[in-house]
Amino acid sequence: MTAQRTLVLVKPDGVARNLTGAILARIEAKGYRLAELKQVRASREQLAAHYAEHEGKPFYEPLLEFMLSGPIVAAIFEGERVIEGFRSLAGTTDPTTAAPGSIRGDYGRDWGQAVQQNLVHGSDSAESAEREIGIWF
Ligand code: RTP
Ligand code: MG
Repeated sequence: MTAQRTLVLVKPDGVARNLTGAILARIEAKGYRLAELKQVRASREQLAAHYAEHEGKPFYEPLLEFMLSGPIVAAIFEGERVIEGFRSLAGTTDPTTAAPGSIRGDYGRDWGQAVQQNLVHGSDSAESAEREIGIWF
């Protein structure tokens, strides 16, 4: 059995650009099941926990400021191999060069903060998913 859950965040750029529905629709259309959904204003504490692996990196503070800049949408999706499936659907981290057809490739580009405003987050392992779900739900 490889049934999994993953934590998806629509970041503040995606919510502000009214892309939440379009993004969630793509995940549902691929066949993953939406298990939980809510819009939230992140706290600094939640973000520090969520992005603990990046603490100390040059992009860490700007990343937290970006994630605090507006509402985000948190979702849990379920399905076979949904963790890697969603990351493939999201596209690579840099939206300028993410493959066309992916969420980041179709909707994202460099708005002046090269790799920051890339619309979505997706857990990168089963361990990350369970840890992150505990932060947001
Ligand atoms: P995510 O965690 O959000 O799903 O994205 P990811 O795995 O593709 O990227 P990761 O390396 O975990 O980085 C987390 C988020 O930090 C921002 N970032 N900025 N300026 C930079 O060099 C830089 N690198 C990363 C992005 O918003 C990235 O998604
Ligand atoms: Mg990551």
